[in-house]
Amino acid sequence: MTLAHTYEPEIRTRRPDLITVEAAKKLDLAKVRQLTADHLNPGQLNFLRLLGFDRVLIDSAEGPYYIDQNGRKILDFFGGFGSVAFGHNHPRIIAARKKFQDENRQEICMAFMSQYASALAYNLAAIAPGDLDYVFLGSSGSEAMEAALKIAEQAQGPERSTTVYAENSFHGKTKGVLAVTDGALYRSRFNLAQNTRRVPFGDAAGIEALFKSDPSIGILVLETIQGGAGIIEAPVKYWQDVRGLCDQYKVLWIADEVQCGMGRSGHFFAFEQYGVIPDVTALAKALGGSKCAMAAMIARREIYMKAYGTSKTALVHAPATFGGIGEACATAIEGLNIIYDEGLMDNAAVQGDYIIAGLKRLHEKYPQIIKDVRGQGLMIGLEFQDISQTLPFGVRQMVSILDDKLKGSLCGFLGALLLAKHNVLVAFTEYNRNVIRLEPPLTIGKAECDQFLTAMETLLARGITGIVTDYISLMARR
Ligand SMILES: Cc1ncc(COP(=O)(O)O)c(C=O)c1O
Repeated sequence: MTLAHTYEPEIRTRRPDLITVEAAKKLDLAKVRQLTADHLNPGQLNFLRLLGFDRVLIDSAEGPYYIDQNGRKILDFFGGFGSVAFGHNHPRIIAARKKFQDENRQEICMAFMSQYASALAYNLAAIAPGDLDYVFLGSSGSEAMEAALKIAEQAQGPERSTTVYAENSFHGKTKGVLAVTDGALYRSRFNLAQNTRRVPFGDAAGIEALFKSDPSIGILVLETIQGGAGIIEAPVKYWQDVRGLCDQYKVLWIADEVQCGMGRSGHFFAFEQYGVIPDVTALAKALGGSKCAMAAMIARREIYMKAYGTSKTALVHAPATFGGIGEACATAIEGLNIIYDEGLMDNAAVQGDYIIAGLKRLHEKYPQIIKDVRGQGLMIGLEFQDISQTLPFGVRQMVSILDDKLKGSLCGFLGALLLAKHNVLVAFTEYNRNVIRLEPPLTIGKAECDQFLTAMETLLARGITGIVTDYISLMARR
C-alpha cells in the first residue's frame, strides 16, 4: 500500500506548476490575496482587510514613496518600523549592490575571511563609542538580540544569568528573546526561560531593588526608546542610574537599538545622548540599507574576549551561515557612509522637530481626539484618546460589529482613511492600540512632512463621529 505522503520518484522530480519571478510581478490583487490566504498568513490578511490595506498592491518604491500597480504614489510614514531609513531604493545603495553583482564578487564565503564583513565590523566599531569593538553579524533584530543575550550569559556564567527586562518591551519573536519580550499574546503557550524578572520601564529604583535582592541577576536588557510600547522614552537621569547600578552590581546592560538606532533619534545610537555606554548593543532593520536583511550585535572588547575570545570558544555562537554575507555587508557599509555623507542624523532631528511641532499644534486644536505627541527625531508616537467608551451610542453600535482589534481605536480608522483618501501609510503599535507610530525615512524633506500634517489635519477636522462614519462608509464600498 502506498501512503498518501510518499511519492513515486518520477513524480517527485517533475516540475510543479511554479510561478516565475516575472509572472509573480504580474499577479493581480485578487490572486495575491488568494495566495496570501492559502499559503502565507490568512489571519494577517483579515487584519489588512480591516484597514483596507489589502486593496493595494505595490509595484515599486522610490525614496519616501511606494508606487502601486496603478501608478498611485503612497507616502511611507510607516517606514518598515524603522527599516526604511534611507528611503526606498536609495541610488547609492543600488549602485553599490549592482557593482557587487556585476563583478561577481563572493557572496557566501564561510571558509575564508571576508573583506566586507571585516570592514563592516570595523565601521560599526568606529561609530560605536567606548570599547564597543566586537561585532557579530546576523540577519534579523531577533538574531542580533539572541546574540546579545547569549554573549552576556556566556560572559557572566549560568549562576548570574537571570535577566531583567522592561514592561512592554519588544525584543523579537524568536524563542530565546521571547523570554524578555513583554507581549502576552506573543509569549502565550510557549515554555520560555524562567530566569527573568520584569520592571517598569524608566524605574531605576525598581531595578536597584531587584539587583539588591537577587544575586543571580547578571543581565539587564532595555530598548533605549521603546517602540512596540508606543514610543516611550526615559529621562537622562534614568540612563545614568542604569549605568551606575550595572557597574555597582556587576550586571551587563544590553541596549536594544534595533528600531531606534542608525540615526533615527538624531543620534547614531539613541543612548549616546544620555552620556552612557552599554556593555552590549544591537542594530538591525536600517542596517540593511533599506534593501536587505542585516543585523549586528556589538559587544565591549572585554566581554567579547571573555565569552568567545579563544579558539575553543570562538565557534560557540558565531559564525552564522548568512552572517556577514557579501552583498548585505556591502549594502550596510554603503548605508553607514550615506548616514554621514548626507547628514541623515541632523535631518532626522530637524524634520522630527518640525513634525512634532505640527502635531502639537493639532493636539492643542483637537484635545478631545489627540491625547499625546511624543518622541525624538523621526521616531514619533501620536497617541489618540481611547474613544471605546465615549462614542455616541449609534456609532458605538456600528463600531461594535467590527473586529476586536479596531473597536474604539481611532488609529485603525485614521490609518485606513489616511491611506484611502490621502495616500499616506502609517504604522500601528503592538501594545497600545491608540498609538500611531511615525517612522518615515531619514531622507524626507519639509514637503513630505507637510503632506502628512495636512492629511492628518483634514481628517481630524471631521471630528470623531465623522472619522468613524467615513471609515464605515469606506469599508462598505468593498
Ligand atoms: C526594538 C526591537 N528589537 C528587536 C526586534 C526584532 O527584530 P526582527 O523583526 O528583525 O527580528 C524589533 C522588531 O521590531 C524591535 O523593534
